[in-house]
Amino acid sequence: MKRTLVIIFQALLWPAVLSASFTVNVPRSTYEAELNGDVRLECVFSALKRSSDITVIWSRVHPKPDVNIYWLDKGKEIHNHTSSAFHKRAQLISHLLRENRAVLHLKKLRIKDSGTYQCIVEGDEVDYKQITLNVTAPFSPVRKSLRKAGEDEVELSCESQGFPSAQVYWSDGQKLNLTLFSNTSVSSTDEDLILIVSKLKVERELVNNYTCTFIVKGEIQQTATFSIPEEIPLHGSALFVWIGAVIVVLLAVIFISIILHRRKYGRLRCEPEPRDHQDEKRDGEEKWPQNRALWYPSV
Ligand SMILES: *[C@@H]1O[C@H](CO)[C@@H](O)[C@H](O)[C@H]1NC(C)=O
Ligand SMILES: *[C@@H]1O[C@H](CO)[C@@H](O)[C@H](O)[C@H]1NC(C)=O
Ligand SMILES: *[C@@H]1O[C@H](CO)[C@@H](O)[C@H](O)[C@H]1NC(C)=O
Ligand SMILES: *[C@@H]1O[C@H](CO)[C@@H](O)[C@H](O)[C@H]1NC(C)=O
Ligand SMILES: *[C@@H]1O[C@H](CO)[C@@H](O)[C@H](O)[C@H]1NC(C)=O
Repeated sequence: MKRTLVIIFQALLWPAVLSASFTVNVPRSTYEAELNGDVRLECVFSALKRSSDITVIWSRVHPKPDVNIYWLDKGKEIHNHTSSAFHKRAQLISHLLRENRAVLHLKKLRIKDSGTYQCIVEGDEVDYKQITLNVTAPFSPVRKSLRKAGEDEVELSCESQGFPSAQVYWSDGQKLNLTLFSNTSVSSTDEDLILIVSKLKVERELVNNYTCTFIVKGEIQQTATFSIPEEIPLHGSALFVWIGAVIVVLLAVIFISIILHRRKYGRLRCEPEPRDHQDEKRDGEEKWPQNRALWYPSV
């Protein structure tokens, strides 16, 4: 640890002391990568006299506190230097050292990996540079939902998650801006994504289309459209009407079977049956289930 401090101290002071002949540079100073993806942060350094003695230290210096990621000490990897947050996710691509490149490969990126990274390279002299990494996540396809809100209204709801945050814009079939009438709430998920739920109340009888749009840095990432009133679901009680209808049909089947059975049985005993009596029964069979269907659900 002491040695790291000395090297960092040297690195910080060196450029002030004399214009160094040994320099570290970065081909790119900012990187953007996706959640769960990979990234290779690269520092290049000027040629060394004895490359086997090289020391490379990668750490994240912002946000605080500093996080140790990788340490090659005079050509020897110090394995216990890597902080648990980067355990098994950080690696130096060692064969690139010969090309004077100190490339840190980060895997399975997390939103929290975003920040400023620093590479320190020491040969005979020492220098360092910093690199910014932003880990982002595109917004997921919108989850729509719809619920009754009062007598004449329905509440439309659009839900999506991503990073960084998005603006939600609402419009109708005539491209009217309805954002002012919507209500948007923002929360954080376990993966540090931003979960956005936006709601808009509309009249249930008015024929129209309503669209919610998730916009990140001026770009449309996701949209969803509701067609009203087509998409308004059947009343909650509709389910019970269906269950009721099924029960009625089952009862009707049983009833008819009993009648048929009786008729067969009856025929064996007292044949022939009067004709108009049979007709009357058949009429009853047809009407009864329909009548039941009408009154059953309201019980
Ligand atoms: C890291 O490992 C070295 C030996 O490889 C040991 O001397 C040192 O104490 C260890 N440091 C920590 C912080 O565990
Ligand atoms: C990285 O994120 C910061 C803060 O969110 C932002 O200001 C910056 O523009 C982003 N950089 C890139 C390259 O996207
Ligand atoms: C829509 O209206 C909201 C709130 O009035 C406003 O902030 C937003 O800029 C408007 N968007 C467009 C595209 O007109
Ligand atoms: C938005 O929702 C919150 C909480 O559900 C509520 O307190 C607030 O009145 C709503 N605002 C509007 C404009 O509907
Ligand atoms: C709603 O959208 C559908 C499909 O895009 C379209 O056919 C219909 O005319 C639209 N209705 C209104 C009222 O804008």
